[in-house]
Amino acid sequence: MNRKELIKKYIEFFKKKGHKEIRNSSLVPENDPTVLFTTAGMHPLVPYLLGQKHPLGRRLVNVQRCVRTGDIDEVGDSYHHTFFEMLGNWSLGDYFKKEAIGYSFEFLTKVLKIPREQISVTCFAGDKDAPKDEEAATIWTKLGIGKIDFLGKSDNWWGPAGETGPCGPDTEMFVNGIEIWNDVFMQYDKTKNGKFVELKQKNVDTGMGVERTIAILNGLDDNYLTDCFIGIIKKIEMLSKKSYQGNEKPMRIIADHLKAAVFIVGDGVVPSNNERGYVLRRLIRRAIRFGRGLGLNVFVRKVAEEVFEIYDDYKNIQKKKVEILDEIEREETKFLLTLEKGMRVFKKLLKDKKLSGKDTFLLFQSYGFPFEMTKELAEENGIKVDEKEFEKEYVKHQELSRTASAGQFKSGLADKSEETTKLHTATHLLMEALRRVLKKPDLHQKGSNITPERLRIDFNFDRKLTEKEKREIEDLVNDVIKRGLEVKCEEMSPEEAKKSGAHGVFDEKYGDKVFVYSIGDFSKEICAGPHVRNTSELGHFKIKKEESSSSGVRRIKAVLR
Ligand code: ALA
Repeated sequence: MNRKELIKKYIEFFKKKGHKEIRNSSLVPENDPTVLFTTAGMHPLVPYLLGQKHPLGRRLVNVQRCVRTGDIDEVGDSYHHTFFEMLGNWSLGDYFKKEAIGYSFEFLTKVLKIPREQISVTCFAGDKDAPKDEEAATIWTKLGIGKIDFLGKSDNWWGPAGETGPCGPDTEMFVNGIEIWNDVFMQYDKTKNGKFVELKQKNVDTGMGVERTIAILNGLDDNYLTDCFIGIIKKIEMLSKKSYQGNEKPMRIIADHLKAAVFIVGDGVVPSNNERGYVLRRLIRRAIRFGRGLGLNVFVRKVAEEVFEIYDDYKNIQKKKVEILDEIEREETKFLLTLEKGMRVFKKLLKDKKLSGKDTFLLFQSYGFPFEMTKELAEENGIKVDEKEFEKEYVKHQELSRTASAGQFKSGLADKSEETTKLHTATHLLMEALRRVLKKPDLHQKGSNITPERLRIDFNFDRKLTEKEKREIEDLVNDVIKRGLEVKCEEMSPEEAKKSGAHGVFDEKYGDKVFVYSIGDFSKEICAGPHVRNTSELGHFKIKKEESSSSGVRRIKAVLR
């Protein structure tokens, strides 16, 4: 069975069980300021796991592209990846343990035809926060699974992905000792003070790794030998005139990182020194460094081209193939300008058997060595570097972005609090008010960031707003709030959405189906939500700041009180 067949079988199976397919969302979490990348299929579903009604119902299924940056250093073995695809099915307060486990078992044994003797499972052992999951174990036993282990939180508990959010005990499925699927019984919300509060609705969130499952189904003990990777590996072999055997680690790193880079650029990120752009830069530069070890010089474009062969079912990347390859190649060109010199400096510094914060910062600043790369190079030479010292230098140079992004990793999950939901709806009102007051129907959003305290939007406009305009905009928004307009959500194809007059950025970011939110007769916009039901819930709207963001782009910060 190949990758596409597995995905098709999974989605068909769950559709037959009453699930609706949801789209494969962007790797850049939409409307979510707290996570850098989509790391699991559940991210776009957080508000619905917490109780909001999903427009497609209570049973959902999809395949989701994911990036997990925490695993960058692990890449190089046979089964870790930064980019991977996750198959998932969800019950939003519908079915629970019995059906979820029953479906998993049926799919594994009947559809994938894995003999039940090869399957083992683990269940939650219980602790102060939640009891031992005897229920799940009993269900497995009844289905004829003999090997059941009980493990604690570090193994059999999933989430929250960040500090707060939905989570719960899980049961993991292994085939011949390799974990391929995880059914999470999301019945708790971890709150800011560390408490596990029982959710109103009991959800199921599952995740099956496509690459691992394909490897197992084909009797392979290396994910890089599956059709998810093999074309890329073969290309690297050809270009380097070396065989995969004996060069597994560098070839896996190159294949994984460039694949991730293609998808990340495909979702609109460009290499830079902060946040997502920095992760992307690290991935590309690390691939280049390992390519160098194989004797490869200029190679990223040719390798990355193979990604498009494997993933011809991803329209979003196919449509932008040339731009994506250009972007990755540009980063290579940039890095190659300084890499040689940087390596010479690095080798000189090695003689002292120690790299100071100043040294690592010099390599970063002048030679474009991501800190993690210097660290890795140093460790290969038996030398430790001090991250704190590097950060001190970094902060000294007034470039706080990396530290900020580290913070973002930590803070994790989407903040879908009541406040952000309200501000989200207010953003739609503000956009429409801007269009009307400034008489600019093509005014659109260039960026957005919402925290529980305020909203922030960037939009295309080429001058400062007058005080009068700002007042008019506020008045219009407040007027709509007072009118108590209903917020409605419909699902349609992007073409239908466009025809219906909905605002949106009509590009490949959208899947086959989009949600269109209308606010009375005032605003209509493509959006993933969440939103309040009625504008009367919003309170009083106020613009706090209006300023230039970049050339031709203005920025507004506003609050609700
Ligand atoms: N969200 C769960 C996971 O990532 C299913 O394993």
